[in-house]
Amino acid sequence: MLFKQQALLRQKLFVLGSLAIGSLLYLVARVGSLDRLQPLCPVDGQFGPRGQDEIALRALQFKRGLLHEFRKGNATKEQIRLHNLVQQLPKAIIIGVRKGGTRALLEMLNLHPAVVKASQEIHFFDNDENYAKGIEWYRKKMPFSYPHQITIEKSPAYFITEEVPERIYKMNSSIKLLIIVREPTTRAISDYTQVLEGKERKNKTYYKFEKLAIDPNTCEVNTKYKAVRTSIYTKHLERWLKYFPIEQFHIVDGDRLITEPLPELQLVEKFLNLPPRISQYNLYFNATRGFYCLRFNIVFNKCLAGSKGRIHPEVDTSVITKLRKFFHPFNQKFYQITGRTFKWP
Ligand code: A3P
Repeated sequence: MLFKQQALLRQKLFVLGSLAIGSLLYLVARVGSLDRLQPLCPVDGQFGPRGQDEIALRALQFKRGLLHEFRKGNATKEQIRLHNLVQQLPKAIIIGVRKGGTRALLEMLNLHPAVVKASQEIHFFDNDENYAKGIEWYRKKMPFSYPHQITIEKSPAYFITEEVPERIYKMNSSIKLLIIVREPTTRAISDYTQVLEGKERKNKTYYKFEKLAIDPNTCEVNTKYKAVRTSIYTKHLERWLKYFPIEQFHIVDGDRLITEPLPELQLVEKFLNLPPRISQYNLYFNATRGFYCLRFNIVFNKCLAGSKGRIHPEVDTSVITKLRKFFHPFNQKFYQITGRTFKWP
């Protein structure tokens, strides 16, 4: 009898203890997210007339939970009206470069309470069929946001596609453009690795990187190979400069975003005229992944998908040397135009 009573008491204590720990964890999580979502300082710049730049705390609290649902199209018309939500054209676009770290940049910027990301690559400006559907189609692809937030989308194909600068200019000639670059040879190998993985998945044969990057007839760098051409950053940028002044671009160091993301993100916050809200708390190094992951609050963390951060195949050193030599003059020009210098070989 005594034993039975003791067991009952132990059970009760266990339930009470679990409830107490659960509530404590919930409170800590709430405090963590509230702290991150304090009202913003007024923003100087183009993102809304003065006085409208302050985002109310209550509004911001909704961002992670409510907006997530709305983005997935679960919102009723009443909810959208009630919360004054809108689908806004992007105020900034990550136009490239493919394999530069475009996904990591978008996801990390989305940590900022005033930023809302378009989750999918929309491919509006580079795809004729999509473009023909018109700007309203594009806007409808954007997530719901509060009027004072800014929407950002990324489609890395924009950077290299001929028609895109003019089309974006026609939509908004003062839009802010983000380009994330990596050391060009590494980027080309990363590009190759992605295509290779796709081919392997379909059981297709594919050439080695060396064979594609070097023209077997001339033994020179094969400039017809897309992975090589994409890494000639200055050539693409020059096309964009026919439409937009250099001040409208911000160059992100994709290699540094891997090893030391915070200072790179702070530069972007500045460029976008956003108050500095992303902190070291939001970024933690995950040794298993070998990359920084994102921390929204004490309970919600996420790393990028496994398709980001692939192991690259070994490439013949003489080919790497040849490529680096080839990219060198283009890199110098790129530094000169952008005013951002990298320690690329
Ligand atoms: P690798 O797969 O070559 O390592 P994109 O999103 O433009 O396709 O770029 C992919 C690259 O983002 C990856 O290239 C990876 O190195 C880089 N990257 C930068 N930060 C990352 C992060 N926190 N997690 C995973 N990948 C990251």
